[in-house]
Amino acid sequence: MDYRQLIAEAIHTELQDHLELNEINLLLEKPKHAEHGDIAFPTFQLAKLLRQNPAQIASELGDKVTSPLISKTEVVGPYINFYLNKESVSQAVINEVIVDKGNYGNLSIGNGGNVPIDMSSPNIAKPMSMGHLRSTVIGNALSNILEKVDFSPIRINHLGDWGTQFGKLITAYKKWGSEEVVKAEPIKELLRLYVKFHDEAENDPELEDEGRAWFRRLEEGNEEAVAIWKWFREESLKEFENVYKRLNIAFDSYNGEAFYNDKMATVVDLLDEHKLLTVDQGAHIVNLDKYDLNPALIRKSDGATLYMTRDLAAALYRRDNYDFSQSLYVVGQEQANHFKQLKAVLKELGFDWSDDIHHIPFGLITKDGKKLSTRKGKVVLLEEVLNEATALALQQIEEKNPDLPNKERVAEQVGVGAVVFHDLKNDRLNNFDFTIEEVVQFEGETGPYVQYTRARAMSIMRKAGIHGVSPSEQHALSDEYSWEVVKLLHDYPKTIKRAYENYEPSIIAKHAIQLAQAFNRFYANVRVLDEHPEKEARLALVFAITEVLKEDLRILGVQTPDEM
Ligand code: ARG
Repeated sequence: MDYRQLIAEAIHTELQDHLELNEINLLLEKPKHAEHGDIAFPTFQLAKLLRQNPAQIASELGDKVTSPLISKTEVVGPYINFYLNKESVSQAVINEVIVDKGNYGNLSIGNGGNVPIDMSSPNIAKPMSMGHLRSTVIGNALSNILEKVDFSPIRINHLGDWGTQFGKLITAYKKWGSEEVVKAEPIKELLRLYVKFHDEAENDPELEDEGRAWFRRLEEGNEEAVAIWKWFREESLKEFENVYKRLNIAFDSYNGEAFYNDKMATVVDLLDEHKLLTVDQGAHIVNLDKYDLNPALIRKSDGATLYMTRDLAAALYRRDNYDFSQSLYVVGQEQANHFKQLKAVLKELGFDWSDDIHHIPFGLITKDGKKLSTRKGKVVLLEEVLNEATALALQQIEEKNPDLPNKERVAEQVGVGAVVFHDLKNDRLNNFDFTIEEVVQFEGETGPYVQYTRARAMSIMRKAGIHGVSPSEQHALSDEYSWEVVKLLHDYPKTIKRAYENYEPSIIAKHAIQLAQAFNRFYANVRVLDEHPEKEARLALVFAITEVLKEDLRILGVQTPDEM
């Protein structure tokens, strides 16, 4: 049910051909003050069309528009203000949620079209950074949003598993590494070796040559080099998997940069055929002057291919394999130019589908306003962040609800959920500060607050002895507090649509916060469990809230403990 649409239809019936239904819908406004009604129709445009006075039109039209959803109509100058019938709207909305449950808010926009989502994509042998965390959780939430509007998302982890750094790593490992230490703590140890390589190379330039030589061997398929590389990749992936498991995120593909090694000759040939390659100081580039972009580097003077070449191969591969309706790359803002170049080169190759490629950038996570960095070994290990968050959650559970069964499990859901939610509630492009103590709070605009609110709503259902609710004529509510909740439930499909159109999970997170806040005001003011003619309707509303909060959090990738 969409009351705005229904009111537009009621107006349209009276206006016939003067304005189209969707024109009317677009004209409808929400009055700034609630005492001016729920929806207003300004008559200026209509007056212009009919060459009449707006106020006169408003007063003539006002009485004629009728609908069971409208309880009162008031004309104020050129505006017709409609007051909704709270009982009928709440009944329709609550029953719709009750019937649809988790499917409430599903939309048919995507016709099942495939959407590869390049997300997470950490670099092998390096710690997963907070930036990769952002890409992971934003990519996951976007996948869920896309699924909700009927696309088929394909989560792709484009691992950074190729490049000259592997030559350096192999060199460092052979000089200073040991198998046991790598096995015990792969990423810490590989990072240590990498940092040591750079420190040593400052005084010993021959190291760089050795690194290059090992990378060449790797590219040529040298058995020892390939075996070490494979092993580093596996060990790193195992460690990344721990984080993904805790975040409850699974990928459809781990085809990283190395996967495209045998697919790059085709790309270079294609560029050659289209006469797009120029040689600049021995390197092959594609000139992108007409796009106002720096040239795209395709092949270095020593023949090595580059990040860009691999992304071109990946774009073609995804096009051929997934026949996508759009292709997304959830990667930090700092790579904006890279993706502009990627699209421009594909355009130059005559691929119109390059318009369906979208870079979804995001801002930085900062600490006291400064970027968190992984260089010089000064790293924030994601697993440690999740551990700390879980410990903080456990502490609060011990204080609030010491007898809770499965405390550890709930603490994990709350701690990890807190980190994820904090990441997603901020507008994607904004930079934001991360202070763990603020993130794992049961009050304020946090994940635990939303989870806790839902758990409270669940406990009301338990107290009332209710397990499921069926739609009923009785679900009509009249008070102000329920009304605020009903409006948020009503707006859910539109919220989903906006989140999709803007590729913006924060819209869902904000909806969850608002709904939780509205529920808490409702619960503080309306005695839900007391005997009252609207008791059944109130409980039905509580049930509807538990469903929609759960769906909000599911989309964001946050779990919902029923008790906490
Ligand atoms: N591994 C890269 C990094 O950490 C991100 C890769 C993004 N995806 C892509 N197709 N370029 O910066």
